Amino acid sequence: MAQLLSGRDAAQAWKTFIRKEVAGRLAQGKRAPHLAAILVGEDPASQAYVRGKVRDCEEVGFGSTLIALPEQTSQAALLKHVEELNGNPGIDGFIVQLPLPKHINPDEVLLAIDPRKDVDGFHPENVGRMALGLPTYLPATPYGMLLLLEHYGISPAGKNAVVVGRSNIVGSPMSILLSRNTKMGNATVTLAHSKTENLEALCRGADLLVAAIGRPLFIKASMIRPGATVLDVGINRVDGKLVGDVDFVEAEQVAGAITPVPGGVGLMTRVGLLMNTLHAARRN
Ligand SMILES: NC(=O)c1ccc[n+]([C@@H]2O[C@H](COP(=O)([O-])OP(=O)(O)OC[C@H]3O[C@@H](n4cnc5c(N)ncnc54)[C@H](OP(=O)(O)O)[C@@H]3O)[C@@H](O)[C@H]2O)c1
Repeated sequence: MAQLLSGRDAAQAWKTFIRKEVAGRLAQGKRAPHLAAILVGEDPASQAYVRGKVRDCEEVGFGSTLIALPEQTSQAALLKHVEELNGNPGIDGFIVQLPLPKHINPDEVLLAIDPRKDVDGFHPENVGRMALGLPTYLPATPYGMLLLLEHYGISPAGKNAVVVGRSNIVGSPMSILLSRNTKMGNATVTLAHSKTENLEALCRGADLLVAAIGRPLFIKASMIRPGATVLDVGINRVDGKLVGDVDFVEAEQVAGAITPVPGGVGLMTRVGLLMNTLHAARRN
C-alpha cells in the first residue's frame, strides 16, 4: 500500500514555519506580510477559494484584504483597483482570482499587475524569470507540490518525471521546475498532453508522475510504475463528490507514495501562495 502524501500534514508543517518567520519579523519591528485578493462576481467555487486564502492569512499571522466586486464590474474599474494595489505600500502581494467574467480580458489584467507584487507568479516577467532560474514567485500549485515533496523528503533528482497536462498554471511550470538544476529539480522530465502517443507506456516509465489533466480518474493502476510517486492535481466534481485525475483506489495499490483528493495538492497550492507573500514582504 502506498504512503499517503498528506497535503494537510505538509501544509500544517509549512504554516508553522511561516508563523515563526512572521514572529521573527514582528520581533525586529517589521510589519506582518499583507496579501490582498480581488474577486469579481459571485462564482461559488471562486468565493470558497478566496475565503480559504483569507483564512490561511489569519492562521499564519498575515494581514489580508479582500476586494469583492460585482459581476458587472468593467475592465477599466478592475484595472483601477489593480493600479491602487500596485501603488499601495501596505500591500506586499495580491492576486486577481480567476476565472474572470467573460467581458474582462484576463491577459490584460495580468499584465497590469506589478510583477513585484504578482504572488500568483502568472505575469510573463515572472514566468520568464522562473524559466531562467532567477529569483521570482513560483506559480502556487507547482510550488506547493515541490514543498510537499520536500516535506516528505522525496527528491526528484535523477528521477524520470512525467507531467501529464501542459497548462500555463500547472503542467508547463511544473515541468520547468522539475527539470531545473535546483534542490527540488534535477529530474529528467517529459511533458505529456492530449496529442501524446502511447501515454500509458510513457506514464509507466515514470518514477514521479504528475497528473494535471482535469479528467476524473483518468490515471489507472496500469499506467503507474510500481513504487512510483504520484501527485494528483485534478479537482473534478462527480455526483457531488470531489475526485482527482488519478483513480486513487487502484493507484494506491501500485504507487509508492500518492496524494489524496481532497486533502492533497489543493492545500499545498494555498501554502505556495503564502510562501510567495512571505517572499514579497521580505523583498519589499
Ligand atoms: N489542486 C489545485 O490546487 C489545482 C490548481 C489548478 C488546477 N487544478 C485542477 O487540475 C486539473 C488541471 O487543471 P489545468 O488548469 O492544468 O487544466 P487545463 O488548462 O484544462 O489543461 C489540461 C491539460 O490536460 C491535457 N489533457 C486533456 N486530456 C488529455 C488526455 N486524454 N491525455 C493527455 N492529456 C490530456 C490537455 O492537453 P492539451 O494541451 O493537448 O489540450 C491540457 O494540457 C483540473 O482538474 C483543475 O481543476 C487543481
